[in-house]
Amino acid sequence: MLRIAVCVSGGGTNLQAILDSLDSGAVTNTEMIAVISNNPGARALERGAARGIPGIVMSPKQYPDREAFNEAFTAKMCELAPDLVVLAGFLVRIPPQMVAAFSNRIVNIHPSLIPSFCGVGYYGLKVHEKVLERGVKVTGATVHFVNEGMDEGPIIAQKAVYVEEGDTPEILQRRVMEQAEWILLPRAIDDIANGRVKVEGDKVVFCRS
Ligand code: GAR
Repeated sequence: MLRIAVCVSGGGTNLQAILDSLDSGAVTNTEMIAVISNNPGARALERGAARGIPGIVMSPKQYPDREAFNEAFTAKMCELAPDLVVLAGFLVRIPPQMVAAFSNRIVNIHPSLIPSFCGVGYYGLKVHEKVLERGVKVTGATVHFVNEGMDEGPIIAQKAVYVEEGDTPEILQRRVMEQAEWILLPRAIDDIANGRVKVEGDKVVFCRS
């Protein structure tokens, strides 16, 4: 059984997609042990609580400096000891010591086709604003393992989504979620939980039988 801890900052629709996939049996061999948020007001915490999943709030704002937060956050995660940390719209930089402690055991969903529209300053709605500004016709989402870089770890899955005439950032965000994110993230967790994903060097290989 893969024990997952899910980190969230806002609405939690990706968290909801995971919960729904656990309920429907689309994700198997997986148990969600905690929902962790930097934002005490996150709707995502309510979604977890509604299923009886413990919620934990840890924000950099509660600590004197970033290093103190990094130490406390990593210590909390080590205490929870999940098999996999899932970043489902978590807008806090993962401490380097946590990346080291959970090497190839942290996955992130990003709302673009990495390596486009990612890195510092590209998160949430901002990604879709930049996509529309640049005028690209295809965007999408990516699930990847987290390494020391920003949106740079081995890619597990991607899905393309068309930009359409008249899109606003909000409309495009919703389409990317519906057509890509809510499908990709649960499926990646199921693949990991059932041993179909392996990291070799800086690449992900699939062992589908
Ligand atoms: C999602 O679009 C997710 O891909 C993005 O934040 C949103 C969270 O929505 N994550 C990033 O931008 C990370 N760089 P949600 O709270 O409704 O799942």
